[in-house]
Amino acid sequence: MTRSVKPDLIDHLRREQANAVRLYLQYKGYHWNVAGPLFHDLHQMFDAHATQVFETIDPLAERQRMLGAVAGYTLEDVRAASSLAEEATLPTSPREMIERLREAHREIILGLKRGFDRAEEDGDPGTADLFATTVQEHEKMEWFLRETLEGASPLLEAAGAPAGAARPPAPRAAP
Ligand SMILES: [Fe+2]
Repeated sequence: MTRSVKPDLIDHLRREQANAVRLYLQYKGYHWNVAGPLFHDLHQMFDAHATQVFETIDPLAERQRMLGAVAGYTLEDVRAASSLAEEATLPTSPREMIERLREAHREIILGLKRGFDRAEEDGDPGTADLFATTVQEHEKMEWFLRETLEGASPLLEAAGAPAGAARPPAPRAAP
């Protein structure tokens, strides 16, 4: 028996898949560009979190297939489905990196909770469980960031990216 497509629940899965791709790239960008006295710790933590976020992408995409929808994979699909704002500039301090990451996690956590509620309304415990599992990953990463922010405040003010380093070009405006 083929399961019927549930557009709204699929939209929640698509959005969180796209948000995870965005957040993965954001973590990698900070992993590469972070600098300052906490370089080693932050470089490592950002990479570990990037891996954790990356591992959430596949189940979110495959769940869409199980529900009878097509899983998007192009950059345009990501741009269209994500609810995270495009980052126009690199943060200027490790503090700003952590704050922006926390903001992204909080947005994703809210979205996952909305998806969970919708899955429960639809009587779909499998999808609800996926959202519940994924939200725990994000809550844990957000907690690590929060603790880092509180435990090392003065050191986080130091330059986050190489001083005077050329920034990548700003993203093109959406058509
Ligand atoms: Fe690396």
